[in-house]
Amino acid sequence: MNLDLLVEDLVDSEEARDRRMLDKLHTVQSECHHLEEILDAFLQFARVGSLDLVSVNLNTLVTSFLDFYRPQADEAGIDISPHLEPGLPNIGGDDAVLRQMLMNLCRNAAEAMPEGGRLEIQTAVDNDHVALVVIDNGHGIDTAARERMFETFFSTRPSGSGLGLPTVRKIAQAHHGTITCESEPGQGTKFTIRLPIDTPAES
Ligand SMILES: Nc1ncnc2c1ncn2[C@@H]1O[C@H](COP(=O)(O)OP(=O)(O)O)[C@@H](O)[C@H]1O
Ligand SMILES: [Mg+2]
Repeated sequence: MNLDLLVEDLVDSEEARDRRMLDKLHTVQSECHHLEEILDAFLQFARVGSLDLVSVNLNTLVTSFLDFYRPQADEAGIDISPHLEPGLPNIGGDDAVLRQMLMNLCRNAAEAMPEGGRLEIQTAVDNDHVALVVIDNGHGIDTAARERMFETFFSTRPSGSGLGLPTVRKIAQAHHGTITCESEPGQGTKFTIRLPIDTPAES
């Protein structure tokens, strides 16, 4: 906040010295923002422990997530098509944490499509699991990066935290689920999360 106030003080000044100071302040501001993002990502990663799982419907969750995410996607030229299986059974889940998982996957997809592209989000029944599938037609992941992408702090982006996918995997595992990835460099990437269907306790 103090930085913002300093910038505000200098922003209308015509003096060369103030302009130079303003340039430096903008650099500090953007570095602070970057650190804030890393810290957020790290806290998010650390926070996923044992969860209180309640009955959650992934179709409802995806729909409400998209209400929130669509404007951002539109702005980035990303066309979202949801394919949600009707009558999808519930899973045992933590709503807020699952939203975070979707957000991380969509953010990565968007970063792989800097010029815009197509993002498909599917839900489907897969035996005794529900599958959540996120597909983009971005730049894809080469074999070397695919081998390391779930490592904490591994990133191919200059300003990446390398915590997005480790967090997604941790969230899937905290739901007794799995994550798999298929990717074709230059074509796109598909992430599949499988979470066990919620079977009501026998009475
Ligand atoms: N949808 C995707 N398309 C292409 N590459 C991806 C995608 N998702 C993840 N990656 C690769 O996996 C790496 C790790 O992702 P992540 O853990 O979210 O860290 P970050 O986004 O901070 O780099 C990324 O740097 C990128 O190389
Ligand atoms: Mg990421």
